[in-house]
Amino acid sequence: MNTNDKLLDNNLSYPPQEEFAAQANLNLTNYQQLLKDSNADNEQFWVNLAQAKVSWQQPFTRGLNRDNAPFFKWFEDGRLNVSYNCIDRHLPTHANKPAIIFEADDGKVEKISYAELHRRVCKFANGLKALNIKKGDRIVIYMPHSIEAVVAMQSAVRIGAIHSVVFGGFSAKALAERVLDAQAKCIITVDGYIRGGKVIELKPAVDEAITYLHQANYELAHVVVEKRINNPCNMTAYRDIWFSDFLANQSEECQPEWVEAEHPLFILYTSGSTGKPKGVQHATGGYLLGTIVTMEWVFDYKASDCYWCTADVGWITGHSYVCYGPLAVGATQIIFEGIPTYPDAGRFWQIIEKHQVSVFYTAPTAIRNLIKLAADLPNNYNLSSLRLLGTVGEPINPEAWKWYYEVVGRNNCPIVDTWWQTETGCNVLSPVAGVTALKPGSCIGALPGFMVSVVDEAGNEIKHGGSGYLVIKQPFPSQLRTIWGDAKRFKDSYYKSDIAGGKYYVAGDSAQVDEDGYLWILGRIDDVLNVSGHRLGTMEIESAIAMHSSVAEAAVVGIPHEIKGEAVCAFVVCKKGVVLTATNRATICDEIRAIVTREIGAIAKPDEIRFGDGLPKTRSGKIMRRLLRSIAKGEPITQDISTLENPQIIEQLQQGN
Ligand code: WT7
Repeated sequence: MNTNDKLLDNNLSYPPQEEFAAQANLNLTNYQQLLKDSNADNEQFWVNLAQAKVSWQQPFTRGLNRDNAPFFKWFEDGRLNVSYNCIDRHLPTHANKPAIIFEADDGKVEKISYAELHRRVCKFANGLKALNIKKGDRIVIYMPHSIEAVVAMQSAVRIGAIHSVVFGGFSAKALAERVLDAQAKCIITVDGYIRGGKVIELKPAVDEAITYLHQANYELAHVVVEKRINNPCNMTAYRDIWFSDFLANQSEECQPEWVEAEHPLFILYTSGSTGKPKGVQHATGGYLLGTIVTMEWVFDYKASDCYWCTADVGWITGHSYVCYGPLAVGATQIIFEGIPTYPDAGRFWQIIEKHQVSVFYTAPTAIRNLIKLAADLPNNYNLSSLRLLGTVGEPINPEAWKWYYEVVGRNNCPIVDTWWQTETGCNVLSPVAGVTALKPGSCIGALPGFMVSVVDEAGNEIKHGGSGYLVIKQPFPSQLRTIWGDAKRFKDSYYKSDIAGGKYYVAGDSAQVDEDGYLWILGRIDDVLNVSGHRLGTMEIESAIAMHSSVAEAAVVGIPHEIKGEAVCAFVVCKKGVVLTATNRATICDEIRAIVTREIGAIAKPDEIRFGDGLPKTRSGKIMRRLLRSIAKGEPITQDISTLENPQIIEQLQQGN
């Protein structure tokens, strides 16, 4: 377990502020009532919320079906449409309310109302239908963070198609892999876009992905290309279609397709502990419910808010807290195309001031970067519109937390440190700002409805002061339903038989319970890294590195990084006969980084590459990653290395930089 002592100053505590508590959606009374109801009858608790918060075309009569555990079903005889819930149902009361305020990289602003969003989604959905995309078909969205990406996602779910958004930073190879796994019929993309003042082309990556798909004998029916920057593109006549032609003559009305609550809403690929990404599949009704209740409980959503979550739609945070949650509650939100440091490190603060943002949700890595670049800069802006701050994706170190609280929030805004995962669909652990205390670095505890525990292998509850596996003991509506095309992997990954006999959802994180019973995430228990809040599988990176013609074997571990939280460190063993010199060593390093960029994307590039004649392995051949982590950090070796097959290589790896 990866205990970071710096995180564990668990005496520092901030009680709820009276002013915030007085206006909060959850106060001590209704919060305690929710907890009581959820403990008394957890299924009924969710049933009541699903009836109250979701608009059903056909109400459900059954709450939870556990007949085929752990393949749980919720509200299965109900029918609904998520796009109807996110758009149509707001039209009678606030058609003209701004739904999205888009700020481009160059500062240009485009504001669209719910009525306009409705028109665009309907047109787009009709365009998809014209391409013969039907309920249950998969479409891949490979687009920058934009209104059009949200429109594409909402349109897919409007007609019952299943989207798989692939983050624009992923490579052509990664894109092809995801298209193939989901057997997608089409890709929606752009010519390119501008981010941080730089042009990034996407269509060429799609073209390259298509050559990989052809090698696998897979024919994609359509590629829809939005012209964002007027970049010349190769368009293949029978397959590629410009956005303008795709939308031409399409009606601005499109009846939503009413789907069963368990109908797959989307697939989102994420890294696990094997080389192959997992297609996390969510279900329509339960997922929507999770995003709505957390908007209200965690972000304390009010109709008057200007809400801004900085996450890209390519990640789960951009799904739940940009595309779905905020629209489902009828919020006005910001979508920002650019980066926090362009044209300077004041961009976030400038946007908050300009649009009077009241709720702001971002990642610790962005906060650390902005502290490093210009810690005083927020003082130059009027940030008094802010009332609540949030973080997500990785633990936040107390120094960064305090800066966020004092300099950005002016000691006046609670910070919600939200723990959750692609798989949970919505926030699971978080302070409740009007009710619980805040402790810098702690996600505090479970939200009402989520039966979270920290347990040992046998499933025994960990006492205050101890640490163990983070598990969720009862099924919950927003959890993933399966791994696309791999039900066995779903069961093996999340209902692990070696922890509490497979009874509970095992998150893959370890956590500490402090003396007050508050929870502190310690880190992953599997071979998954968290680089700048992005999840990367060590095996994926290792197999990319091993593609280099001089490489025999590689092992990847995470090393602490000031800004990224964790960085990638690779230990590489060259093939016999490869003699390393100062020059070819540098070349091999460059080539390895290029291969990782090609196979996965630039986010997975190793910061550090070390060479050695072998990797530390046990006599049974298992790579001793814990040892590699100590070596990477430059720590003295305290572990027992008596089972090590080849102890002499440790010294070599320690110097092998
Ligand atoms: C993993 C999930 C959920 C949105 C973004 C990441 C880590 C997430 C926190 C937090 C400490 C966190 C966990 C988790 N994580 N939030 N507030 N404090 N760690 O989603 O890519 O599915 O990664 O991110 O390790 O398991 P993801």
